[in-house]
Amino acid sequence: MLKQIKTAFITIILFSLVLSGCEPQPHVTEQTTEETEETTIVDTHSNDGRTVVGISMPDVLLERWNRDGAFLKEQFANDGCEVILRFANNLIDTQINDIRDMISGGADVLVITAVDGAALTKVLNEARAANVKIIAYDRLIMETDAVDYYVSFDNYQVGVLQANYVIGALLMVNSDKIYNIEFISGDPVDNNARYFYKGAMDTLDPFLEMNKIRILSTQSGFYETSTAQWSTDIAQQRLQIILNSYYPKGTRLDAVLCANDSTALGAAKAIEADYSGTNHVVLTGQDADIANIYNIINGTQDMTVYKALDQEAVVTVALCSSILDGNTPAEDLIEAANFSFDCSYDTTTYDNGVKAVPSYLLKPITINYQNLEKELFVTGYYQRNSSGLIYATK
Ligand code: GAL
Repeated sequence: MLKQIKTAFITIILFSLVLSGCEPQPHVTEQTTEETEETTIVDTHSNDGRTVVGISMPDVLLERWNRDGAFLKEQFANDGCEVILRFANNLIDTQINDIRDMISGGADVLVITAVDGAALTKVLNEARAANVKIIAYDRLIMETDAVDYYVSFDNYQVGVLQANYVIGALLMVNSDKIYNIEFISGDPVDNNARYFYKGAMDTLDPFLEMNKIRILSTQSGFYETSTAQWSTDIAQQRLQIILNSYYPKGTRLDAVLCANDSTALGAAKAIEADYSGTNHVVLTGQDADIANIYNIINGTQDMTVYKALDQEAVVTVALCSSILDGNTPAEDLIEAANFSFDCSYDTTTYDNGVKAVPSYLLKPITINYQNLEKELFVTGYYQRNSSGLIYATK
């Protein structure tokens, strides 16, 4: 029986009238602690004169997280915040320790891309007990009511874009041909991977139902097509086994629907090494990673789904700024921030097993040979050096 603790800490903070980012807020506090079901909220950081943002990224191996982390850190630092940025090497325990360090380091808000969305419940309860606000960045964090907001892209739409690209590239509509397709899904502990998979499968379902698509490996479920840690090597090995087992000389493979660019790199290597056919195999991806842009330019890969990381970071910083000013933003944030890109607010779709997490969603777009110059280079997302090599501007 929890010892009754009669005093309650309620921090009442006078907020500046203007959205003033992370400049320390003048705090007038009337301290009482309130007992919650499991823990006592002891807020030891809100009135320490600093505004600290903890950014926990999953790893440095996947190109995008380096860029997300760097861009978020730059934006928050420009807003006058102290930033603690950590990368967890795709290790759950490392991420939990990183988050614990951020809490004890005085974080006012945590921006977290979970390695495993269902593994952070305990440490996020500790964050809540310290009155730290929590943003699930890009990947929904599951099984906890401690998450305050989710900022991401419409990840179901990512799968729809990939599937629609395969349908168009193979001219499947009104065709009486039968197409052989294989699937390489994402990391099974990454909640986004399920949305990519479902968006793709729902879109292809009519063709599967009519047996216009065959999966010769018979591997069509999420888990059996999933790829631990989005590993290029694991994707390559799995497809090589499939090609050697189900695609003897003369058996055609029409497409491999890869959930992201790192797995698409593995698929391309497997096809080059072990596919005996002479036809082009349609390959999809996601993230517009530099290696895959080269592959789209040279015709190995057909498309990728571009998610403008800078937009995701801009929304996250605006959201945190508003929260740190003591607001409880909703749809109004989008109007107040006047973003230069589409952003929607959703309070029902993203149920994390405990609650529907209020979400800000951005639009993913299809990148192919025809539009990559306009969408990635003209916008300045990528540049070419004097030798023509592509590099990230941000
Ligand atoms: C997902 C993310 C994708 C991609 C993938 C790893 O969680 O939403 O954009 O980065 O991880 O490549």
